[in-house]
Amino acid sequence: MKKLLGMVLVGAMLVSGCGAETPVTEATEEVKEETAQDVKEETKAEENQEETVDITLKEVFEKHGLKVGTCVSSSELNKRSFKETVLSQFDSLTVENAMKPDSALNQAKSKEEGKVVVDFNKEVLAILEFARENGFSMRGHTLVWYSQTPEWLFREGFENSGDFVDRDEMLKRMEDLISGTFAKIEELGYTDLFYAYDVVNEAWMEDGTMRDNHWLEIIGDDYLWYAFYYADKYAPESIDLYYNDYNEQYKADTLVKFVETLKDEDGRYLIDGIGLQAHLYTSDNLPGYFKAVDKLAETGLKIQLTELDVCLGKYQAPLEATDDNLVKQGKFYYDLINGIFERVDAGKIKMDAFTFWGFCDSYSWRREYSPLLLDKNFEPKYAYYGAIQTKDKAGY
Ligand code: GLA
Repeated sequence: MKKLLGMVLVGAMLVSGCGAETPVTEATEEVKEETAQDVKEETKAEENQEETVDITLKEVFEKHGLKVGTCVSSSELNKRSFKETVLSQFDSLTVENAMKPDSALNQAKSKEEGKVVVDFNKEVLAILEFARENGFSMRGHTLVWYSQTPEWLFREGFENSGDFVDRDEMLKRMEDLISGTFAKIEELGYTDLFYAYDVVNEAWMEDGTMRDNHWLEIIGDDYLWYAFYYADKYAPESIDLYYNDYNEQYKADTLVKFVETLKDEDGRYLIDGIGLQAHLYTSDNLPGYFKAVDKLAETGLKIQLTELDVCLGKYQAPLEATDDNLVKQGKFYYDLINGIFERVDAGKIKMDAFTFWGFCDSYSWRREYSPLLLDKNFEPKYAYYGAIQTKDKAGY
């Protein structure tokens, strides 16, 4: 059965707008309407669209019992072609920025109420509504993090500067952030969409030490235990609780030891899964990567790839998108996803979802490395065929 890459390639019209207007690493509250120019360009692109593929990502991942997701912002979803690609290829969404603490917490209301107040912005509401209308599941991202978290959360009177609060007050604020997030989702009626939530993001360093940050400075080493304790206390049973990190291939031993500490007094895990961000490079060593995956899976916790992109080249040394380099990337995507499917099918890893950090190179936070499945013209790359496991088109 031939299927359109769901107007994916329609995105050709996005060449001009592709990624240019939304800084991908910052939250935006603006919900943009599609302009007449957008529509004109999209129509032109649709006319030009000839590419077809046999199968979608969604169908491929479903065969292995996996949801497949991408990160999104609401301004992207307002682009017709972007939206059509999301609709045709994916069944799970992560809000790229707007559910992070710097967007999800309301300073004025926190001051007013004297406690941390969670208050999702228009962007979150638009994405959640889109998800509900179109049958998407949601990955929540993220609660306790050193980055994209406002200074005022840590300071007396919720002021931007001044003294830090003490440990007891900080624990209370952490509890309110976590309980308030799940309460807000429930109040809005979206609890049933969420299947996983990143409780803590990026708390460990490659050398096995804890990342220095305000949470650690104010609360102390046990801040991570408390984060999971509160999440376990307030999250509904149906939402799996994740620790999420990057450079996971270098942190596996640290993380194995860490998750063992996340238990209650009866020895029950307070955590359900480990999120491997998988911000990878074509120069990375795949057997080494799988060694880390296997080690983490042996904890018995669920494993998810949560932010996959595969950069051309290596850290701080992007390579040009030449045919040779793109072939290497296509094979990398093929081999990585194939290795995951083999492990899932053999019951070696417990996995229920797999998320890409976007799909079009020009929208990527690492766009200079051309890390995703479609090029800036929304044309499928070898990487796309690698992801859908069409080996002969993936560069092989
Ligand atoms: C990390 C975070 C993501 C995002 C990316 C950059 O991986 O977990 O939320 O900020 O960096 O887009």
